[in-house]
Amino acid sequence: MAAAVSAAVSFPSTKSTTSLSSRNPIIAPERLVFKKVPLQYRDVSTSGRVVSIRAQVTTEAPAKVEKESKKQEEGVVVNKFKPKNPYTGRCLLNTKITGDDAPGETWHMVFSTEGEIPYREGQSIGVIPEGIDKNGKPHKLRLYSIASSALGDFGDSKTVSLCVKRLVYTNENGELVKGVCSNFLCDLKPGAEVTITGPVGKEMLMPKDPNATVIMLGTGTGIAPFRSFLWKMFFEKHDDYKFNGLAWLFLGVPTSSSLLYKEEFEKMKEKFPDKFRLDFAVSREQTNEQGEKMYIQTRMAQYAEELWELLKKDNTFVYMCGLKGMEKGIDDIMVSLAAKDGIDWIDYKKQLKRAEQWNVEDS
Ligand SMILES: Cc1cc2nc3c(=O)[nH]c(=O)nc-3n(C[C@H](O)[C@H](O)[C@H](O)COP(=O)(O)OP(=O)(O)OC[C@H]3O[C@@H](n4cnc5c(N)ncnc54)[C@H](O)[C@@H]3O)c2cc1C
Ligand SMILES: NC(=O)c1ccc[n+]([C@@H]2O[C@H](COP(=O)([O-])OP(=O)(O)OC[C@H]3O[C@@H](n4cnc5c(N)ncnc54)[C@H](OP(=O)(O)O)[C@@H]3O)[C@@H](O)[C@H]2O)c1
Repeated sequence: MAAAVSAAVSFPSTKSTTSLSSRNPIIAPERLVFKKVPLQYRDVSTSGRVVSIRAQVTTEAPAKVEKESKKQEEGVVVNKFKPKNPYTGRCLLNTKITGDDAPGETWHMVFSTEGEIPYREGQSIGVIPEGIDKNGKPHKLRLYSIASSALGDFGDSKTVSLCVKRLVYTNENGELVKGVCSNFLCDLKPGAEVTITGPVGKEMLMPKDPNATVIMLGTGTGIAPFRSFLWKMFFEKHDDYKFNGLAWLFLGVPTSSSLLYKEEFEKMKEKFPDKFRLDFAVSREQTNEQGEKMYIQTRMAQYAEELWELLKKDNTFVYMCGLKGMEKGIDDIMVSLAAKDGIDWIDYKKQLKRAEQWNVEDS
């Protein structure tokens, strides 16, 4: 049995994002409020013994040993719905969550599943956009990270949410090109049908250990799986899971008007100041002391020693999601830190990966 903790969770209405009602007259609530009610919860982890592993922090990185999987792998469903037998859901809500002056639009959308898509935090779904491609064939599916916890935004395990950036670019002939699926999704109106496949993916499943340190590194819509983790950790009550560790989110976006779910995260921080750390890297507005652009790795570098100490612990789990390319920047700061302890970062990262402590999904 699990229940939502917060009586209501609302989307941003701060200066950094425009009001929902002015952005989307179709759903038009002055302030969108998710009322969450107690509900029956599919108990997904009873078969897995929760193992709490704590290592002493030492000045040397300990060798990683083979351990029981720390992820909630038992009973994780993949590919229940395939392109040949997809699930048809309905759009319940679709709202722009970036400000009007943001470089690009990102939308948060909720689809009905009637509980038929048994996803876990960290998984993705496929979406097959309406229409046909230039060869007259149905469009291929695109993957999207799920942005809601398994309970869903309405707390009844009957919805799935996405966070989608509208792809628009100018090609080499100077023509404006709109990405097929992202535009289909961002334009969806409540009531419209959406063809869904999945769920898929195991890389980004949460660690089982409720005492873990979970470091989340997201750029742009790469925030999606972390919203899902953080709702489970801080906005919900589960009989078999109570987060008692440390969650640390680094989010990189271009402008403050493109900060995603900022108010939700600030609410979590207010409620759980000892369990949640929140750092933003706003690349086009902030710089470091050397005047360098504030990328996520630039922000992390300000906590480098602390992060390195955490990375030596057996129950620290790093998750990275978003732009390909950020991992290289993160490697660059870790290389010199590890070297100070005489450790080869790339070798150590391999060990972390084997121990499921370094988890990356990007595109
Ligand atoms: C596991 C996974 C999870 C994902 N999760 C999310 C998510 O949560 N949210 C999200 O928004 N996206 C996510 N994506 C990306 C998503 O799957 C789509 O790729 C994205 O929405 C674009 O699809 P589209 O149909 O709109 O574009 P398409 O019509 O498929 O066009 C994309 C193509 O356009 C071209 N292109 C793109 N940009 C440019 C450019 N600037 N200049 C020239 N050509 C260009 C490239 O050839 C590219 O392949 C995820 C991807 C993966 C693999
Ligand atoms: N599961 C997945 O695999 C998954 C899930 C969700 C999203 N994604 C992918 O993640 C990407 C997110 O794009 P978006 O348009 O939503 O993001 P966005 O809003 O453009 O934000 C990306 C941020 O990262 C910065 N950045 C650019 N290059 C970087 C680098 N090398 N290292 C660190 N930071 C860098 C950007 O800075 P500047 O623009 O100022 O340079 C910007 O601040 C998309 O490609 C999407 O497909 C993947």
